Amino acid sequence: MAVLITGGAGYIGSHTCIELLNAGYEIVVVDNYINSKQESLKRVGIITGKDFKIYNVDLLDAVGLENVFVENNIEAVIHFAGLKAVGESVILPLWYYHNNITSTVILCNIMKRFDVKNLVFSSSATVYGIPDRFPVSEGFPLRAMNPYGRTKLMIEEILRDLYESDHSWSIALLRYFNPIGAHGSGLIGEDPNGIPNNLMPFITQVAVGKLNELSVYGNNYPTIDGTGVRDYIHVVDLAAGHVRALEKVSKFTGVDAFNLGTGKGYSVLELVSAFEKAIGINIPFKIVNPRPGDAPICFADPSKAKRELGWVAEKDIEEMCEDSWRWQANNPNGYNNHSELLAEIESPRLLKNSGDFLFNRVH
Ligand code: NAD
Ligand code: UD1
Repeated sequence: MAVLITGGAGYIGSHTCIELLNAGYEIVVVDNYINSKQESLKRVGIITGKDFKIYNVDLLDAVGLENVFVENNIEAVIHFAGLKAVGESVILPLWYYHNNITSTVILCNIMKRFDVKNLVFSSSATVYGIPDRFPVSEGFPLRAMNPYGRTKLMIEEILRDLYESDHSWSIALLRYFNPIGAHGSGLIGEDPNGIPNNLMPFITQVAVGKLNELSVYGNNYPTIDGTGVRDYIHVVDLAAGHVRALEKVSKFTGVDAFNLGTGKGYSVLELVSAFEKAIGINIPFKIVNPRPGDAPICFADPSKAKRELGWVAEKDIEEMCEDSWRWQANNPNGYNNHSELLAEIESPRLLKNSGDFLFNRVH
């Protein structure tokens, strides 16, 4: 029995693959690499010393996806695959609706045909729009502010309808807050295309000298220093939350949403100074206009995930900064160039220690 990981080559997916393999799950990854590199999965194999199947399949390709179910005994799906850039979704909404929503409908249809009804879905805190109270709990009103956010909200609704139609489905909607950090090995991490949209990859690229200075979007919000406040969560904690959610969906039927966050909010300038303190590198910044659509403050009430999934985020802001930096410093060009560190890890001596890794690319 295997767990299908859609979008498993991506930032959160690759970290979750590690947690699942370490927990003893068999996994099968499907990705079309539209926003990732196969190299991340190779490194998952190096880190865990475990072998797993990888399919280069677009989820919009129903025949290709069905073949994955034919060739493997899939028992559950963690569905990460999707496009996630807010600005791009405003310019190309149809692409976002097709890629994110149509693919989910195709996936669920195939799951239904193969009687696989356990699903963990990557939703986002973006479904809360601009919340007016804090911390944000799952019962708050939902109001996405852009096409990307609406794909998440619509998929949540589609999955609720699916459960209403057939109560044997078991679906966890995981609403992530702001994932940052990287695996402690420094081998995998977030590898954005072009200039990063999100705060932490921007900071690390300034620190590594690829960008000159950070633009801080507004300093007039009603927060400790006027800059926006977010709930940053270590991606390894987030990945562990998926293992807990998988355990939950395998035991109960239903459809339920869970916030995955720490419950603590940090302002932009607090994150910058935590990073400077952890790393010892100064991050030059300038204050610019607020980014349209930004919430002033957003942090989670994660108590439902603690109560019902037995999950809490454990890593603090310092570890998030250190691990983000280790990844960036060791891989200044992301997965594009093999770093010296990887060359060392790929040496026969270290590979021996990581087990007989067979990179099994199907398709
Ligand atoms: P990512 O872009 O790194 O990973 C997504 C993966 O899905 C990529 O590997 C991409 O190639 C793949 N993919 C996209 N469309 C596909 C398709 N049609 N067929 C096959 N593969 C496809 O993003 P991430 O940060 O790892 O996010 C994972 C999920 O979590 C996404 O659904 C995202 O919307 C959601 N999410 C992310 C964040 C965040 O801050 N990173 C926050 C909230 C929610
Ligand atoms: C953004 C997206 C959200 C998405 C999430 C994860 C928007 C409006 N929201 O959330 O839908 O789910 O990323 O992909 O794009 N900041 C700066 N300078 C920067 C970058 C960010 O000051 O260069 C500030 C922002 O104003 C915000 C904070 O840093 O206050 C965090 O920003 P970011 O990392 O982009 O995450 P979100 O805005 O929470």
